[in-house]
Amino acid sequence: MKKAFEATASFAQSMDEADELKNFKNEFFFPQHQGKDVIYFCGNSLGLQPRSVPAAIEAELKSWRELAVGGYFNGANPWLYYQDYVSPSLATMVGANNHEVTVMNTLTVNVHLLLQSFYKPSGKRFKIMMEAGAFPSDQYAVETLVKQFGYAPEEAIIEVAPRNGEKLLHLEDILSSIHAHADSLAVVLFGGMNYYTGQLFNMQQITKAAHDAGAIAGFDLAHVAGNVPLHLHNWDVDFAAWCSYKYLNAGPGGVGAIYVHERYAGNTDTPRLAGWWGNEEKTRFKMEKGFIPKASASGWNISTAQVFNTVSLKASVAIFDKAGIDRLRAKSILLTGYLEFLLQQLDNISFEIITPAQAEERGAQLSLYFKTDGRRIHDEMHSNGIIVDYREPGVIRVAPAPLYCSFADVYRFYDILKNFK
Ligand SMILES: Cc1ncc(COP(=O)(O)O)c(C=O)c1O
Repeated sequence: MKKAFEATASFAQSMDEADELKNFKNEFFFPQHQGKDVIYFCGNSLGLQPRSVPAAIEAELKSWRELAVGGYFNGANPWLYYQDYVSPSLATMVGANNHEVTVMNTLTVNVHLLLQSFYKPSGKRFKIMMEAGAFPSDQYAVETLVKQFGYAPEEAIIEVAPRNGEKLLHLEDILSSIHAHADSLAVVLFGGMNYYTGQLFNMQQITKAAHDAGAIAGFDLAHVAGNVPLHLHNWDVDFAAWCSYKYLNAGPGGVGAIYVHERYAGNTDTPRLAGWWGNEEKTRFKMEKGFIPKASASGWNISTAQVFNTVSLKASVAIFDKAGIDRLRAKSILLTGYLEFLLQQLDNISFEIITPAQAEERGAQLSLYFKTDGRRIHDEMHSNGIIVDYREPGVIRVAPAPLYCSFADVYRFYDILKNFK
């Protein structure tokens, strides 16, 4: 239900009082500005540190200190199974079965590894479709992959671009592009949400169109995981990868995660680049020849569990388990909707909200394009203890993450803009 919003501090306060998730912000450390917590709208870039993280890291340091190699089996959280402590919570968030999700490496590395499994060019079918303006790391991954197979990127990569003069993609243009290239498409690889515009794509329909065209559908969920609940399994998505340091609050360079649909994860013949950690546990320590993959997404694990890269995620997903991704999404829709409503009240500055207006086509982030003054507004926010992110030319991305942002925070952002000269 759309609330009748009001552009007053007292309205924002009443929304906070009614918010059943309001106390979750106490579970995070906030950087300080002039002795007070900052207002943090940068969770789309790097999430805040959960207060439970230092103790969680100390617990693993203690296991290492006191048990050394014994920590693999006898620590408080035996390291041998470390991935399994976080993947079920992630599977819930992305709508997957537990055995379809694992954590390992980092995002771009995982995109490469999954493309090694899923990009199988043959004959005329060798093209990869992406959204124009995809995150550069994905562009580089695909560019270098097709070159590795001997194709020219200009020939093998199809980019779907916004219409002339527009900034967002139309779903019908994506679907018709897939259809138009049905004979030559091997893989459709999209960001689940574009990092710059905040546009959330319809992954179910893109997947269906890709499958109808005889292609594989994969997604980079960096900006979606922990932000918007997904149903990857039911949508029949083939593969996905995401990082854990944005909305998932696992800290800089935190472990990445992958989803592989069970029709591939459960099939040990699915090609992959392997290492011992993806081998069946029963035979892993026999140190014998012959890779026997686990019949799950963990069969893509290559190296020993990265305990210190995963421990913060373990602490963080415990918070998500308590808050619930559906409740977070419900709050997020209201909070971002309130931000949008407030921005629409401003008449003293000229800007455009690039991000789609419909809740189903966006998450927590609004990208604001300021024709002039973008940089100055960004600096003004920072000098008032509000952390937002600035991207040339003139875009401020504001992401009120529902775990630790409030309606009063959003109101404060508006109040500064209202008084901006
Ligand atoms: C959409 C998207 N893809 C890929 C990356 C790169 O991730 P990593 O540096 O963990 O490989 C990022 C990083 O912010 C991103 O936002």
